[in-house]
Amino acid sequence: MTKAPDLENLTKDEIRLTLDEVRMPFSIAVWGSTNYFNMGSVIRTSHCFLAKEIFLIDIPGGFYKKATMGTHKWENLHKVNSLEFLDLVGNRPIIAFEKREGLDAKDLQYFQYPQDPILLFGCEKEGVPSHLLERASDIVYIPMWGLHNDFNLAVAVGMALYDWRLKRERNL
Ligand SMILES: C[S@@+](CC[C@H](N)C(=O)[O-])C[C@H]1O[C@@H](n2cnc3c(N)ncnc32)[C@H](O)[C@@H]1O
Repeated sequence: MTKAPDLENLTKDEIRLTLDEVRMPFSIAVWGSTNYFNMGSVIRTSHCFLAKEIFLIDIPGGFYKKATMGTHKWENLHKVNSLEFLDLVGNRPIIAFEKREGLDAKDLQYFQYPQDPILLFGCEKEGVPSHLLERASDIVYIPMWGLHNDFNLAVAVGMALYDWRLKRERNL
């Protein structure tokens, strides 16, 4: 288990940089969300799993600071447009999370992640747009058994992060 760094007496920026030493090898990206609270919640959860970076792609408004519980100050946030995002991530594998009719998506339960993935999520209304789905190395869906077709964005992010971490822990 990694030893937690001693963060007492550090500024928020120093904390962010110190956390870089123990961050996990995955990043999170969300496209187009207009829901301030969801975005705050995504940042809070991504911090709890020590994401390397959080990409906020084409996010018009931003995030609700109270919903991050202050964790946004410790995170590597990139507010970018789609082109900047694709430029920054280069050849890193993008795993798009989406459950929509007609997509060739894999069941997350049996999915093995590549090294250093970027987990990409879409907005509340349209989901992940086609120009980013085209760049994904895989599309995965989280199975659901109820009548509704999708999870709330922040809930989907929480489940995906737990799944990534569990599979890493167990070498799956
Ligand atoms: C509320 S959903 C929006 C879905 C959108 N209405 C659509 O039809 O594509 C917001 C985002 O959460 C993620 N999501 C929600 N449920 C999911 C599921 N069952 N599997 C994978 N991703 C999911 C996706 O990234 C999705 O773009």
